[in-house]
Amino acid sequence: MKTADKLNIIIAGTGYVGLTTGLALGYLGHNVTCVDNNTALIDKLERGISTIFEPGLEELLRDNSDDVSFTEELFEDLPRADIVIIAVGTPSKKNGDTDLSFVEAVARNIGAAMNTEHPPVIINKSTVPIGTARRVETVIKEVLERRGAACSFCVASNPEFLREGAALHDTFYPDRIVVGTEDVQALNLIRQMYAPILEQTFTPPQAVPRPEGYSLPALVTTSPTSAELIKYTANAFLATKISFINEFAAIAEKVGADINEVAKGIGLDKRIGPGFLKAGVGWGGSCFPKDVRSILFTSSQYNCELQLVQAALEVNRRQRKKVIEKLQQTLKVIRGSTIGLLGLAFKPNTDDIRESPAIDVIQELLDMGARVKVYDPIAREKYKLAYPEQNIVYCNSAAEAAQESDAVVLLTDWDEFWHLPWEKIGDSMSQKIIVDGRNMLNSDELRQLGFTYTGIGR
Ligand code: UGA
Repeated sequence: MKTADKLNIIIAGTGYVGLTTGLALGYLGHNVTCVDNNTALIDKLERGISTIFEPGLEELLRDNSDDVSFTEELFEDLPRADIVIIAVGTPSKKNGDTDLSFVEAVARNIGAAMNTEHPPVIINKSTVPIGTARRVETVIKEVLERRGAACSFCVASNPEFLREGAALHDTFYPDRIVVGTEDVQALNLIRQMYAPILEQTFTPPQAVPRPEGYSLPALVTTSPTSAELIKYTANAFLATKISFINEFAAIAEKVGADINEVAKGIGLDKRIGPGFLKAGVGWGGSCFPKDVRSILFTSSQYNCELQLVQAALEVNRRQRKKVIEKLQQTLKVIRGSTIGLLGLAFKPNTDDIRESPAIDVIQELLDMGARVKVYDPIAREKYKLAYPEQNIVYCNSAAEAAQESDAVVLLTDWDEFWHLPWEKIGDSMSQKIIVDGRNMLNSDELRQLGFTYTGIGR
């Protein structure tokens, strides 16, 4: 059911955020144009093929073809646009600062083609450092000046909080929507854009059902600067929460407690909450590592050290080494051994391998002289493409990776790893050793089957 008052929306960038947002807004009844300067991406999307692995996305792409179009040309629809959403990449520079060149390029293009009679509201959805809303405004103004044109327009900050692997779910059913602007008209237009989500008046797409008991999301309106800081604070907090439980995993091991039980025991306290308390090999992905480095960079510029966040980063670095330490404890000698590694993606339900713990663990094992066999349900091709120099054996199943291995190391908590035929797998291994980097396996059952099992903090 289409319920939104139709707005003309342009989304610049068709990565995780841009594509998910574009398809969701199209589904809600808006007229959406997704723009990307990558010809290959646009070509695929026009043919209804998803360019990222994300549950539900392909269905939406197929069912949405009338409301969402794809183009390389930002200028075409710009004069009619009510809203332009900037959702291009903001990679890390070497020093931790954020590279804003893609954001600024889009801003220049907007300035060059914007209709000054009907200026669109511009939204920064990319994760950007503090002050970027102002920076985008300045860049657009400069271009307008060069054109001999002028008009008043608004750049709002509207950070996203979607998780890869649950991106559509988080877009349709968010906890909150944060809009940073001091312009009432712009705020009203953005509220109109999100009205079907804020009021939950849409019929859920089949692939993305509304969760039972879901209550309406809050609309949090702030200054642009607060909105920008909310995004970094949220990610830094979640990353710190994971590092916190990982640090306690170490003490749980020393005293003989089980960190899963400890996490359950504290997570039921509403003030703490159960989320992001799964101990393991630590956090990766395209967001936490980049955003943590970026806010640390910003804080250093202000001479305002974020000690807790810095420590969370250190704990996370250390956490990746735990798997190797555990192999050394059980296997003793790593050189010459064969290790079967389960999981390349930085987390399940995505083929994204950016800053995945697997990258460091594999490199370390290779450096130590091990033979490495790997299996991942979907991230294999991406990994192969990114690390062609790594001499590893790619397998077609977990059982194949384990066969004749001296140890199995589990790094990603894919659902299919819950139900592996461990008895049969054990019989095919050279030594029955398991290092469970995600604490997902049943340790008692595995021990009964004769495995030497080690988890993280258990
Ligand atoms: C994260 C945030 O959760 C989103 O809210 C945010 O919008 C997004 O970054 C972003 O900035 O774009 P994402 O990186 O997709 O989302 O993944 P998460 O589900 O947050 O997981 C991040 C990492 O933490 C993964 O490596 C995961 O395995 C690890 N993790 C997560 C744990 O080790 N333990 C946990 O309890 C939870």
